[in-house]
Amino acid sequence: MYLDLKRSDLALNGGQPVRTVPWLDNFTTGNEEKDAVIRVLDSGYLSKFEGSHTPDPPFSFYGGPEVQALEREWSEYYGYKHSISVNSATSGLYAAIGAIGVGYGDEVIVSPYTMTACAMAPLLFGAIPVFSDVEKETGCMDVESIERVLSNRTKAILVVHQFGIPADMGKIMELAKQHDLKVIEDCAQAHGAKYNNKYVGTFGSIGVFSLNVNKSIQTGEGGICITDDEELAYRLALIRNHGEAVVGPAKYENVVNIFGFNFRLTELQAAIAREQLKKIDKLNDHRLDLVEAFSCGLENHPFLHPLSGRPGCYSTYYVYPLRYEFGISGVEREEFVAALNAEGALFYQGYVEPLYLQPLYQQQSLFKHSYPFSAPENQGHTARYEKGTCSVAELLHEKTMIINEHIRFPHQQRDIEQLIQIVIKVTG
Ligand SMILES: Cc1ncc(COP(=O)(O)O)c(C=O)c1O
Repeated sequence: MYLDLKRSDLALNGGQPVRTVPWLDNFTTGNEEKDAVIRVLDSGYLSKFEGSHTPDPPFSFYGGPEVQALEREWSEYYGYKHSISVNSATSGLYAAIGAIGVGYGDEVIVSPYTMTACAMAPLLFGAIPVFSDVEKETGCMDVESIERVLSNRTKAILVVHQFGIPADMGKIMELAKQHDLKVIEDCAQAHGAKYNNKYVGTFGSIGVFSLNVNKSIQTGEGGICITDDEELAYRLALIRNHGEAVVGPAKYENVVNIFGFNFRLTELQAAIAREQLKKIDKLNDHRLDLVEAFSCGLENHPFLHPLSGRPGCYSTYYVYPLRYEFGISGVEREEFVAALNAEGALFYQGYVEPLYLQPLYQQQSLFKHSYPFSAPENQGHTARYEKGTCSVAELLHEKTMIINEHIRFPHQQRDIEQLIQIVIKVTG
């Protein structure tokens, strides 16, 4: 056995821990955001949205000045024509699936090793999520696995740039073209990440970003969809804002899936997001300096391997994912992580349980009468939800993935040095 966790110097066994001060949360805001909030408060309007085709001034179907300015500035940053802000990436994913016209009888290929909303989005519109496996080296969807689960019902692929590592977009877009599939990109964890020098989010029909409190830039809660397609942009705006009441007066005829929610961002959040957008590159640079320091400190480690990202791509690392070779260490991951955390580190095991193992999929039931699974149009769907469906995702979750979140501002190099010190102490 390589690892000896019985040593008396380990904090686990009563020794002195390496770190005793708490870790900091993801604070990305400062005086600029304070000024922006005050600007909005002084205006008196915390929102200027109205869910109507002909709203009374100063209200608008497209929101107020901060929302519209944020959308313009976001589009400029990404070099895409349209940005549609929403109140979360979850809402953005729901709106995106609705906008592309997916529904009963359709299948959408999704990742099992990601946030639950990715699979909920197709279900909400009556379509069936089909899970493809992920790559061991990145946690992103595996192209060969996507190919294996394609069926004549497949309408779209919902790609996730997991951990801020770009998915294999060249091959995925080629596959989508061959089979006439739509692609939605979940960039919730990948602000500013690039595949072959092109921003993720700008390959598929719609890219979706999160602005929740943990993300590279944030407004507490929030999200943004981007698209180059004018009609998709309008459909996203309709789903965001009570579209069913708007399509009549607007004389918009493609009404399928236009059941409008209230996914609107407030002027306060938009004003904060505008300041955050200005900081995105600086915050990413800081994060990547910490990632680099962490990776250098663990170079050639016998059983702990930082995920290196995809060659030729710019990964922005939402978290710091490591692969743990339990076969080499001779110690279960749970015990190893407990030893690290006893020294004052904060590592998490796995990431999320593969989504198909949730009760929803095990029982194949969401709405009354087991809809949408039992809908006549969905009979004979090809999705599988039993254990073993995506063996790599299960392995990453159960055995090999370890996550650390402290590669972000306001942490500094000295914090990462301490983390490395902890790993070296525990692994000897
Ligand atoms: C990959 C991914 N997709 C979607 C979401 C949903 O984001 P939000 O919290 O903004 O709804 C998250 C949030 O954690 C995420 O990590």
